[in-house]
Amino acid sequence: MTTTPSATTVRDVAASAHDLVKVYGHDEAEVRALDGVSIDLYAGEFTAVMGPSGSGKSTLMHCMAALDTPTSGEASVGGTTLGSLRDKELTRLRREKIGFVFQAFNLIPTLTAQENITLPLSLAGRDPEPEWFDRVIDAVGLRSRLAHKPSEMSGGQQQRAACARALVSRPAIVFADEPTGNLDSTSSAEVMGFLRRSVDEFGQTIVMVTHDPVAAAWTDRVVFLADGRIVEELRNPDRDSILATMARLTPQVG
Ligand SMILES: Nc1ncnc2c1ncn2[C@@H]1O[C@H](COP(=O)(O)OP(=O)(O)OP(=O)(O)O)[C@@H](O)[C@H]1O
Ligand SMILES: [Mg+2]
Repeated sequence: MTTTPSATTVRDVAASAHDLVKVYGHDEAEVRALDGVSIDLYAGEFTAVMGPSGSGKSTLMHCMAALDTPTSGEASVGGTTLGSLRDKELTRLRREKIGFVFQAFNLIPTLTAQENITLPLSLAGRDPEPEWFDRVIDAVGLRSRLAHKPSEMSGGQQQRAACARALVSRPAIVFADEPTGNLDSTSSAEVMGFLRRSVDEFGQTIVMVTHDPVAAAWTDRVVFLADGRIVEELRNPDRDSILATMARLTPQVG
């Protein structure tokens, strides 16, 4: 008798949000950036977050990645509820459990690629595991660029270095906010290919904000935000289903 892998297999949750609300400002200036967002991000899965400018994507990432605190609701990473932690414990959790990739690569100009990639480990007083470091470097294809400064690397190479930096500490989850936002389509495909491979080959969990349907098509799941709420979700997306959903969710003018 054969057993089929079942779609109902219980998956580990790498990070979750429960009824997150984030309000900025007061009175007339009040903005409800998140208006009750609940989501589970599954381990070993690549999730994209899409939605119009101002819909709350970055705010959601920041609240889930312990970079900002919600007005109410709860976020947790690797089973740890963020609201229960003191500042010191939050710093440690960010260092040990979370990888970050931003649109502006945030590489330190005076450090080499290798030094940039291992910086979070150095800050935590840890040495890279040599075997893991090698796998990550080969996966990002930066072996021949390790001694280069960011100014000596292309945009795609710099962003791949930023991805390697996020992965080298083996975080429970990587949060990426528009990681391909500054890249041309070739560099964007390089970075997406690497992120996809790190999910498939290393079991990495990644959540990524993007405006680009081509980038989102590399993921397993696309969650759409509008006005601080989750309004739609696609599984096994492709470019056309993403475009169709974006069109459906865009308010028609006139
Ligand atoms: N620090 C802040 N103070 C006041 N309002 C803020 C602040 N940060 C974000 N907002 C507001 O919260 C809402 C959501 O912002 P957020 O940055 O999460 O949007 P986004 O979906 O990431 O947009 P984009 O696609 O343009 O990056 C917006 O209306 C924004 O103006
Ligand atoms: Mg944003």
